[in-house]
Amino acid sequence: MPDKKPENLHTPVLLSEALQFLEPTSGQIFFDATLGLGGHTEAILETSGNVTVIAIDQDREAIGFAKNRLERFGKRVTIFHSNFSEMKQVLKKENIKEIDGVLADLGVSSLQFDSEARGFGFRFDAPLDMRMDADSETPTAAGLLETLSQEEIANLIYLYGEERFSRRIARRIVEKRENGEPVTTTRQLVELVEKSVRRSPKDKIHPATRTFQALRIAVNHEIEILEQFIHDAIDSLKIDGRFVVISFHSLEDRVVKQTFQRLSGKCFCPPRIPKCMCGAKETVEILTRKPIVPGEVEIGVNPRSRSAKLRAVRKIN
Ligand SMILES: C[S@@+](CC[C@H](N)C(=O)[O-])C[C@H]1O[C@@H](n2cnc3c(N)ncnc32)[C@H](O)[C@@H]1O
Ligand SMILES: [Zn+2]
Repeated sequence: MPDKKPENLHTPVLLSEALQFLEPTSGQIFFDATLGLGGHTEAILETSGNVTVIAIDQDREAIGFAKNRLERFGKRVTIFHSNFSEMKQVLKKENIKEIDGVLADLGVSSLQFDSEARGFGFRFDAPLDMRMDADSETPTAAGLLETLSQEEIANLIYLYGEERFSRRIARRIVEKRENGEPVTTTRQLVELVEKSVRRSPKDKIHPATRTFQALRIAVNHEIEILEQFIHDAIDSLKIDGRFVVISFHSLEDRVVKQTFQRLSGKCFCPPRIPKCMCGAKETVEILTRKPIVPGEVEIGVNPRSRSAKLRAVRKIN
């Protein structure tokens, strides 16, 4: 484990905005679906001496840090190693029927990103793993590059990374594999991407960023599980309960936005259909017509917040 203090590793993104929408008050119960290093949960617990939080994360290492950080809150916080796709089972096990608020701060934590061993970032050479849950049986990023077809790899990089050069990258990956030199480390992948893309002077990010993001999303099934999780979170809320989601890329934000719209009763049926068939039903009130984004000061202090978007709803039905 890195010996840095967790406090120094993760600055919670859009913290005051998240609290403003969650509005914790005495006696309420919150669910933090992405505990990470516990920054948001700590702030929720600090709002009142009588608020409790059930928090989960699929990363055991993050849980270790968060437990330390939150020790002083004693029984007011309960932490489990779990995936938010299992939110309902976690609440059932704890005998909790309804909660007052849910927070999901999606994506990777700085602990994961800065890890020298887990392959999320490319500052260090490491095996291409990228599983947030190191205990899970799902294939690693290297595993995907070894088994998927060239077309599947290209589609994945295009869809989840919005990478224009996805086909060239996929072709090189498969060529290497066929020559008996599969891409298995972060450095190999960075070099391959650098050779495959044309850099534009306008590009502010490293050319490999998009490919790494795409693989991480695929490995952890981040988009596939999001919509069902949003439904589960809303189902678990009391009337007037709040749900706040912070996302970090456009694909994720699109799923959040459209699922919230659907849950707010917006009909997505094709035009001219005589009767609504999409099951639109008014379950939530959208509290953020446009997503809330960090201001310049926050981005200056915490550059990783730059792509964050916060959306919030209130359950009304
Ligand atoms: C951006 S960090 C959260 C940081 C946290 N809010 C804080 O203030 O320290 C995201 C965390 O969510 C976790 N995570 C991502 N997807 C998850 C999922 N499907 N189930 C459980 N945890 C997940 C990651 O392991 C990571 O630790
Ligand atoms: Zn409809």
